[in-house]
Amino acid sequence: MDKIVILTGAGISAESGLGTFRDKDGLWTRYPIEDVATPEGFARNPALVHDFYNQRRAHAAQATPNAAHDALARLQAEYAGTVVIVTQNVDHLHEAAGARDVIHMHGQLARALCDACDHRWDAAAVMAPDDPCPACHAPATRPDVVWFGEFPYHMEDIADHLAGAGLFAAIGTSGNVYPAAGFVQEAAQAGAHTVELNLEPSATVSDFAETRFGAATQIVPDWVETVLSRRA
Ligand code: APR
Repeated sequence: MDKIVILTGAGISAESGLGTFRDKDGLWTRYPIEDVATPEGFARNPALVHDFYNQRRAHAAQATPNAAHDALARLQAEYAGTVVIVTQNVDHLHEAAGARDVIHMHGQLARALCDACDHRWDAAAVMAPDDPCPACHAPATRPDVVWFGEFPYHMEDIADHLAGAGLFAAIGTSGNVYPAAGFVQEAAQAGAHTVELNLEPSATVSDFAETRFGAATQIVPDWVETVLSRRA
């Protein structure tokens, strides 16, 4: 059975109340990326960056999965072991919906990282610049989130999944940020059928064999039903 690889972006969590980045009132319209999502910004003002992620962490902790997260968890359960979710999101809504095989390529709000010794641990709800690392005790802790200019996580695993994909879907992503925006071409080269499920056409819409437009809570459950009915 070919693998089903699903890439998700901020749009899948929008109906759970979590902001996207590039929509009209998106996060990047309110916070300069260079101040809150780059290593240079963190070095300049760690308190500002921690405050930005503390707010997002508190907001995400209150959010609940929506019908799109639930539908993907169901698809994984029905196709045990052959559906992998690669998410650009740093929230935990896929896991909260019951998904198991989730790859967080941009890290996770719920995790902390020590810049001095690379130790990772479950982040406190509120982090501050001088929090000591629990392993080396250096005051060098940061959110375990991938910033612009840094390498995404798990890229080798993701490449392996894409090479074995029979079906690739991108859900709720604008297709503006690489390497994620290039996954559709890698999957197509592996012979996968590719589908974009989004509120509106993404920057890479022309790379997809199939497109479905609408709100994720409407179109993702419908699409999962289609996939399951084809298997039956
Ligand atoms: N249903 C489906 N799609 C939606 C919905 C919804 N309810 N609401 C918004 N969208 C779509 C938008 O049309 C847009 O194409 O979700 C997409 C969100 O795009 P972005 O805000 O650019 O988010 P994303 O693609 O996840 O950004 C990728 O950029 O800044 C970095 O690290 C950050 O992981 C992020 C990456």
